[in-house]
Amino acid sequence: MNFKKTILITGGAGFIGSHVVRRFVARYPEYRIVNADKLTYAGNLENLADIEGRENYFFERTDIVDKKAIADLFAKYRFDGVIHLAAESHVDRSISGPDEFVQTNIIGTVNLLNAVRSQWGSDCTGKLFYHISTDEVFGSLSKEGYFTETTPYDPKSPYSASKASSDHLVRAYGHTYNIPVVVSNCSNNYGPNQFPEKLIPLAINNIKNQKPIPVYGKGENIRDWLYVEDHSSAIDLIFHKGKAGETYNIGGNNEWKNIDLIRLLCRIMDSKLDRLEGTSEKLITYVKDRPGHDQRYAIDSSKLQNELGWSPIPDFAKGLELTVDWYLRNTQWLERIISGDYEKYYDTMYSGR
Ligand code: NAD
Ligand code: TYD
Repeated sequence: MNFKKTILITGGAGFIGSHVVRRFVARYPEYRIVNADKLTYAGNLENLADIEGRENYFFERTDIVDKKAIADLFAKYRFDGVIHLAAESHVDRSISGPDEFVQTNIIGTVNLLNAVRSQWGSDCTGKLFYHISTDEVFGSLSKEGYFTETTPYDPKSPYSASKASSDHLVRAYGHTYNIPVVVSNCSNNYGPNQFPEKLIPLAINNIKNQKPIPVYGKGENIRDWLYVEDHSSAIDLIFHKGKAGETYNIGGNNEWKNIDLIRLLCRIMDSKLDRLEGTSEKLITYVKDRPGHDQRYAIDSSKLQNELGWSPIPDFAKGLELTVDWYLRNTQWLERIISGDYEKYYDTMYSGR
């Protein structure tokens, strides 16, 4: 089949990546979509089971830290665009083991940039390297203000420092080698397929199993939550309409104190599970705070809204309900991830292909 473009999506077996891959595979049959993922604990091909037979979808098990693996990937395909999501993504893991974050998020990104530079050479017409980043690079806000595209970087965790470093490298490669690059910085995502180490799926799983819900510190830290499909639609828009060299902030304009969010989730779960109102709130357990815990994130996404016409769709209660419904319907997904059965799934599906 003749494809109009070949697009590399890294980290496509992860939470956000799987939504982006599905969207691109379904909406753009004229594109060949290559999903390159190492399949760490956070990568799960089950997230893409519904599209794996599509003619325009290709999976490559690739570690972006491995230069030889990247060279092989770029020898096999000529890419017109890269959407780079592969990363170590969990702040708590970055605190207990920062090295992996430096390797994947910084070295892995440089390996991709070098590969793109050498494949695209001096003619980058129609090409784009799109780097997916986080609002955490801007640091922590107090009560007032928002992160804009020009807020100075001030990362405070090993995770956000490694993402900040990769953002700088992407922009520096764009500037120095004239590679068309775009960066977006998004707020906290939630929705189906999120690994149950992050707050919302962890709480859903614990509430379901009537286990304590760990709330760090006093539960007063604030996050700006965005439904994952809204992030995915923003990525689609920026990839197609964004201007090379630009940065776009993506956020839900949806700030919640952790404790208020957990209470709302408890109410939704009580009703879904036919439990007496107030049952799940009893599971709330305050635990020792995260070291260096950022107080507040809040994104100003007016540039993306005004220049590219993006807007998020579900309101938070609706988005949370969709998320809870998904986790309650997909108990096997959750159990297999937790039990590690997923490796077996991978071997069955892909060995010998
Ligand atoms: P995730 O942890 O769910 O998925 C990461 C994916 O990257 C996994 O499939 C994993 O197997 C893959 N990966 C990890 N190391 C790799 C390596 N060395 N080589 C190849 N693949 C590797 O993460 P996510 O939450 O989906 O986040 C995706 C991207 O979006 C990340 O870059 C993250 O920084 C960014 N982001 C996330 C959020 C959020 O709220 N989750 C918000 C803003 C930005
Ligand atoms: P998390 O989902 O890890 O995202 P991030 O740290 O990237 O914002 O955490 C969201 C918020 O919830 C953050 O303030 C830390 C807090 N939190 C808890 O209170 N308990 C938990 O068990 C987890 C995982 C997070």
